[in-house]
Amino acid sequence: MAAAGFIGTGNMGRMLVEAMIRSGALPADRITACNRTPRKAEELAEAHSGLRVVPAPEDVARLSEIVFICVRPVDVPDVVASISSVVGAHQLVVPIASPISVEDLESILPAKVALVIPSVVNRALCGATLCVYGKRATDTDIRRLESLLSPFSTPVRIEERFVRIASDLSSCGPAFLALFLQKFVDAAVAETGIDRELAGRLVSAMTLGTAKLLTAESFTFASIRERVAVPGGITALGLEFLEREWNDVFVRLVRATHAKFAEDCTAMRERLNRRPR
Ligand SMILES: NC(=O)c1ccc[n+]([C@@H]2O[C@H](COP(=O)([O-])OP(=O)(O)OC[C@H]3O[C@@H](n4cnc5c(N)ncnc54)[C@H](OP(=O)(O)O)[C@@H]3O)[C@@H](O)[C@H]2O)c1
Repeated sequence: MAAAGFIGTGNMGRMLVEAMIRSGALPADRITACNRTPRKAEELAEAHSGLRVVPAPEDVARLSEIVFICVRPVDVPDVVASISSVVGAHQLVVPIASPISVEDLESILPAKVALVIPSVVNRALCGATLCVYGKRATDTDIRRLESLLSPFSTPVRIEERFVRIASDLSSCGPAFLALFLQKFVDAAVAETGIDRELAGRLVSAMTLGTAKLLTAESFTFASIRERVAVPGGITALGLEFLEREWNDVFVRLVRATHAKFAEDCTAMRERLNRRPR
């Protein structure tokens, strides 16, 4: 079983560590972690006996076969600089931020590289983890990494050119969906006076049921709509209303996320001391 190291134990680093431990992918004593503010990593070790906390990214890199970089994009170049003279050709380095090119990272580090984009839903031991592999990653590396991810998620291999849109759907998606549900509840409370907690419970149960129909019961988006909307009925009216009002909102959403992504990629390349493409 490969030993895993985590540089950064904020939201996502901690979520990944805990998902691996809870799902049985890896015992705590096979995990090493560090965090810039050490207390966060120490708290994780207090919660999971055997997990080893070390002072710096270089220490994580020295001790781990698979090194997850779980810092914000702005902090990635510093972390890469600090581990570049420590990692070797046998190791797999795995950043989890979308504006990083695996090719760029492979040209800077002597290690093998894979990009993994998790999702907050992995905390519930489900959802996808998006995987992009660099040229040097072998079948054994891929098997090792996916054996760590599959106990708590479905690893999905994607082409690098689809990283942003796949991340929008899989990783930003929970936040987008949560906003939709929040607005639905807010309107229900404001317009009718229904209890907020009750409205929240109803939409949460509805969301779970809809997800189960889509994933376990072979329903499609269209077949759910057909089952619920009787022609001339209230759901049909609601659907017509949403189609009209939303118009091209998702097209504009995808354009906005991709414009920001292009800026982030340029900034990342500059900070990694590479020329813009
Ligand atoms: N949130 C999501 O749903 C999601 C989904 C997919 C991917 N991601 C990606 O996951 C990454 C982390 O996001 P997050 O939400 O976990 O951010 P976060 O909560 O801010 O965590 C980042 C952690 O990295 C630590 N850190 C920064 N520089 C460090 C260094 N040089 N050495 C050690 N630790 C360092 C920070 O320490 P301090 O405590 O000192 O700040 C912080 O605890 C981002 O790149 C994001 O794009 C997020």
